[in-house]
Amino acid sequence: MCGITGYIGDNKTTDILIDGLKRLEYRGYDSCGIAVVDAKNALYLKRVSGRVDALDKLVAQEPVKGAQSGVGHTRWATHGAPSEDNAHPHTDCSGRVVVVHNGIIENYLDLKEKLLASGHKFKSETDTEVIAHVIEEKLKSLHVQEKAIRSDMLEPVFFEAFRRALAELKGSFALSVIWAACPNMVLAARMYSPLVVGLGKGENFIASDVSAFLKYTKRVVFLNDGEIAAVKKDGVDFYTFQGKKVAKESVTIQWDSTMAEKGGYKHFMLKEIHEQAESVENTLRGRLLPLGGNILKAEMGLSAEAIKSFSSVQFIACGTAYHAALIGRVLFENFGIPASADVASEFTDRAKLLGKGTLVVAISQSGETADTLFAVREAKAVGATVLAITNTVGSTLTREADHVLYTHCGPEIGVASTKAFLGQLAAIYLLAGHFAAARGALTSSEARSYAENLLKVPRLIEETLAQEKEIAKIAQGFASSEHFLFISRHVNYPIALEGALKIKEISYVHAEGYPAGEMKHGPIAIIYKGMPLLAVAPSGRALDLMAGNIEEAKARGAEVVAIVDEDSRKTVKASRYITLPKTEELFTPLLTVIPLQLFAYYVALAKKCDIDKPRNLAKSVTVR
Ligand code: G6P
Repeated sequence: MCGITGYIGDNKTTDILIDGLKRLEYRGYDSCGIAVVDAKNALYLKRVSGRVDALDKLVAQEPVKGAQSGVGHTRWATHGAPSEDNAHPHTDCSGRVVVVHNGIIENYLDLKEKLLASGHKFKSETDTEVIAHVIEEKLKSLHVQEKAIRSDMLEPVFFEAFRRALAELKGSFALSVIWAACPNMVLAARMYSPLVVGLGKGENFIASDVSAFLKYTKRVVFLNDGEIAAVKKDGVDFYTFQGKKVAKESVTIQWDSTMAEKGGYKHFMLKEIHEQAESVENTLRGRLLPLGGNILKAEMGLSAEAIKSFSSVQFIACGTAYHAALIGRVLFENFGIPASADVASEFTDRAKLLGKGTLVVAISQSGETADTLFAVREAKAVGATVLAITNTVGSTLTREADHVLYTHCGPEIGVASTKAFLGQLAAIYLLAGHFAAARGALTSSEARSYAENLLKVPRLIEETLAQEKEIAKIAQGFASSEHFLFISRHVNYPIALEGALKIKEISYVHAEGYPAGEMKHGPIAIIYKGMPLLAVAPSGRALDLMAGNIEEAKARGAEVVAIVDEDSRKTVKASRYITLPKTEELFTPLLTVIPLQLFAYYVALAKKCDIDKPRNLAKSVTVR
């Protein structure tokens, strides 16, 4: 939630900050702003309620020349409605201390009360504004008056006031802060919210994630919780919150900035749907054969012996990643390995029941989802081993987990997750295959056929995508429907949930995903004549029952779109069909989700919704 940027250097400060915000807009986009300081200590602050494009236009009307440091922010509201007053940056009473913040200051009401009592005036309803005032208080306590201070003392004093202010804050924060008196240094700090520093030549960057500055540098340093970065033009120093200097290693990011551009597609979501064959291929590459061997050991330290030692697997995740987790549960159970899947925000009491023999698999595209991180910490506290499946190198989850299995999907920008989901599925199938083979649940010839089925998936995804026009036509026919039902069974039940989630996220219509067998226990009552019902019904053991459930829905007036293959199409009676290439039932989720993603996309397109930035959502949810 919320994207923050910071910059110091001789390049075009405002352009760099705004460009970074555009790339971080997936984190929140209800208001935004920047503040920059020039060498003569003049501060320029611009904010808008709305998108970064509007900020860009505003700044272009009155360009700022000579700015050499600054901070920027794009917001997903937590405290205070989306408005210009609540937009970041926020300032202290003097208007000279400027703060952008991602996270939540849990004790802000206490702090605000004290600050009000000592005469501070507040201009917003946000928790963030208190930070600027706390720093102002700390500057006062250091007896600092901006005009009187010796120039060589500006940086140490600013640093010390910031450091002391941090000690007062409770909650989660990534901060980027400037003080107009001290244009030669931007300060940043992290506690439970992501923050990364980009190292350039004669310029340095701060951002919530690397995509903001990849155009300028790929050399980055990830901050840990409890660390401060003092960012100057010619270098960056890192400290603990106690003020102790720390040496930190930089890493080089392999993504390039064009991977985060639309490449001719109308929306990132559509581009990312089309990148799914590649996502699966990249995630599987070099990790599949031989199944059950020590392949995972080399990459993530998980030996075949360790794989054999776990008594159960517990998946935790949020949103779309949770639907991948549900499929993970089915796969592991299919191989006789006890497994469960929970949404991370509801995991609390279950964590206490985990034994040391449980492998917790935390799935998260961003690796920064607060609920998932919190659940991981609870699992670790009771001694469970945690394996992360994530797309984001250097994310918090990778640092907290014992083992990391990366999906190699490249940056996903569309808020509604698509290719990251396919990458997560590929990783889960990979993991399940290695577990099953190592534990003797698959014979060597079964393991070979399992691997062959997986290796075919990228080609089958391409064949599925070739039906885009047909799917678009069907979707357009339902664009005015306000209610949608998605049903399936067994390994495709989570796909019904995902189909419903996709259309809710980007089209703002009511949709329900249901296990087909449960329909008769209540939800069938909501069916009315002409209600669209998408039924995922590939060949396999669930088919006959699915065909029956589809009949029951049709008898109540549902207009059925069936996701089938050549064979199951003969069994299912529907008004429209989307026919997928055939694969074994266990592997069908890797295909059946694709028509549902495209369906949601084309309904949203027909409704003229803001597909890549749906209202009220953010891609990375760093609050609980
Ligand atoms: C947000 C996004 C979803 C995503 C979920 C989990 O709600 O809008 O698309 O599935 O977070 O994100 P993660 O990064 O943990 O996979």
